[in-house]
Amino acid sequence: MERIYLDHAATTPMDQRIVDKMMPYFTEIFGNPSSIHSYGREARKWLDEAREVIAGELHCKSHEIILTSGGTEADNLAITGVAMARQHEGKHIITVKTEHHAVLHTCERLEKLGFDVTYLDVDDTGLIDLDQLKQKLRDDTILATIMYGNNETGVIQPIKEIGELLNDHGAYFHTDAVQAFGTMPIDVADDLHIDLLSASGHKLNGPMGTGFLYVSERVKLSPQLFGGEQERKRRAGTENVAGIVGLAEAVQLTKQNRREKAVYYGKLKETMLQVFDEESLNFSINGHPKETLPHILNVYFPGVSIESLLVNLDMEGIAVSSGSACTAGSVLPSHVLSAMYGEEAKELTSSVRISFGLGNEEEHVKQAARKIATVVKRLAK
Ligand SMILES: Cc1ncc(COP(=O)(O)O)c(C=O)c1O
Repeated sequence: MERIYLDHAATTPMDQRIVDKMMPYFTEIFGNPSSIHSYGREARKWLDEAREVIAGELHCKSHEIILTSGGTEADNLAITGVAMARQHEGKHIITVKTEHHAVLHTCERLEKLGFDVTYLDVDDTGLIDLDQLKQKLRDDTILATIMYGNNETGVIQPIKEIGELLNDHGAYFHTDAVQAFGTMPIDVADDLHIDLLSASGHKLNGPMGTGFLYVSERVKLSPQLFGGEQERKRRAGTENVAGIVGLAEAVQLTKQNRREKAVYYGKLKETMLQVFDEESLNFSINGHPKETLPHILNVYFPGVSIESLLVNLDMEGIAVSSGSACTAGSVLPSHVLSAMYGEEAKELTSSVRISFGLGNEEEHVKQAARKIATVVKRLAK
């Protein structure tokens, strides 16, 4: 049975060109970049080059990039790093109820340490209300962390307007762009007023365990890992040179084909919805109809249990996800859909996330859509 992978928001297959680029860094250019000898200097050279590539893509300076082990670490470092560095100026942080747990759990930990966190609401399309953000800003607000594009619904927040508001106020603006980076052009030198930005390699057809945090040079940040002077003393630990070279290649390839990818994934999304319509399927889309990432589609199938749907689709070779966390085989209700519709909403137990990416062709998507339609109709009975 041919399997069809439609869970690219969870992780993506690696691009063969990136694998090829990384290979010499495991066996030939294997030095520790902190070593003084030629092996170390060679590794350092490629590490510096990789950092330049990433900085070039964001239009920032290379010393404004901190290489991390992924999006989770970048989010943790951004939020806790700013909280610790600015705690004498204020202890108030603003975030949104629909953030990734890498942000929410970090904020919850800070609450235990005496910080005050405001969790903004979203409307039933998943968007925040800029007036609410404005009202919640206080003199002691030091940071707002608001994601670019949501990992469950794809909903894109009004980043430019948020940046403007925060810039006028003086609170730093961190955005988790882990899902958005692959399809949205992001220029931090532009007028977005982003101070910190997180991204992750494995969402870009690059290696797992890689990512970066952009930190504007004007930002005060306390390190969260200790034991070495790497990353200009902001993130201790020997650098993952092969991974970083792969991450830079992923960023480079993203730059080259971001626009095409966005258009193509948008088309795949339309194809899937068209088949659902042709099959007269009872469904609705979760999330804003326009302000959304092209590769993510979150669909509510009334009367269908999500666990049964995921298991049945897996048996048909279709990999999709609930988008929310799974524990011991059962799916926890999504905090994102809960923030959009309320805790008791039926959408929480009957919605799936379908996400497109490398290797998906129109014909696969049609096939998958037909299989989804068959399973949904069977389970909805
Ligand atoms: C929006 C968002 N933030 C953070 C992360 C965590 O990134 P990583 O898996 O690289 O730690 C993810 C991963 O799914 C994500 O979707």
